[in-house]
Amino acid sequence: MALQAAAGGGPRHPGGYPAPVDAPRLGHACRRARGMTTAGSGGRSLRGKQRLKTARGRTAQSQRWLERQLNDPYVRAAKADGYRSRAAYKLLELNERFGFLNGVRRVLDLGAAPGGWCQVVAKKKREARIVAIDLLPIEPLPRVTIFQDDVRAPGMADRLREALDGPADLVLSDMAANTVGHKQTDHLRTMGLVELALDMAEDMLDEGGAFVAKVLAGGADAALMARLKQRFRSVKHAKPPASRKESSEWYVVAQGFRAEVEETSQAIAI
Ligand SMILES: C[S@@+](CC[C@H](N)C(=O)[O-])C[C@H]1O[C@@H](n2cnc3c(N)ncnc32)[C@H](O)[C@@H]1O
Repeated sequence: MALQAAAGGGPRHPGGYPAPVDAPRLGHACRRARGMTTAGSGGRSLRGKQRLKTARGRTAQSQRWLERQLNDPYVRAAKADGYRSRAAYKLLELNERFGFLNGVRRVLDLGAAPGGWCQVVAKKKREARIVAIDLLPIEPLPRVTIFQDDVRAPGMADRLREALDGPADLVLSDMAANTVGHKQTDHLRTMGLVELALDMAEDMLDEGGAFVAKVLAGGADAALMARLKQRFRSVKHAKPPASRKESSEWYVVAQGFRAEVEETSQAIAI
């Protein structure tokens, strides 16, 4: 499978992927989220499971969702740390491992609502210009230019490029298509968004830049992997601990963008 071929070193997931980020490498916020410490802000025990007293008026599905939220240490930590989403910890954990936020000045965040990843970048990189887009509204954030639109809308790439006001150092995509319950369709739709995000990354990244995108465990297809390997010096996959085990999401982390590619290798690919 294409994803497996590009995966980095270290212990392997049974599916061939690298094992999740090692716990000891995580920063304080992530450790707190994982219930490894009870010290610091919001320092309560994160372990005891809560059950809702009544399910009156709720469907079984929403009852399960609510209980999962109440018992999720990342949800509690996000509240304590002021992050809008538990997804913030996925980016923090990926960055702890790969360091793609080092030195970034311009960042494009695709599928950014409610804004957890933007908050992480804005907090870590106070000088960075951040451009974010989502179909859903995003409450204003300091130093973040927000678009509420579809990344596939005509002329969108030009508008985002203009807002960046220079080549990007990092393109992030946490986009996922709304699922319809048909596995193959859901997979194709989400991978279509990854391809689109990569189109934008190839168009907007500066030499040496990075691309981080959500993919599904079914794997990026061979053509996408070939593109990634051709344009980036390093291509790895990871499932950060904050990503729920039962979720099929993984992240591709491509670093060292090659702004110039040889015409000959492109010609052969066609
Ligand atoms: C998992 S959420 C992102 C969470 C975000 N990274 C955070 O930290 O808060 C995925 C988002 O992708 C957005 N999305 C999906 N398809 C999109 C599209 N075609 N254009 C723009 N946004 C899209 C969804 O609306 C959704 O808000």
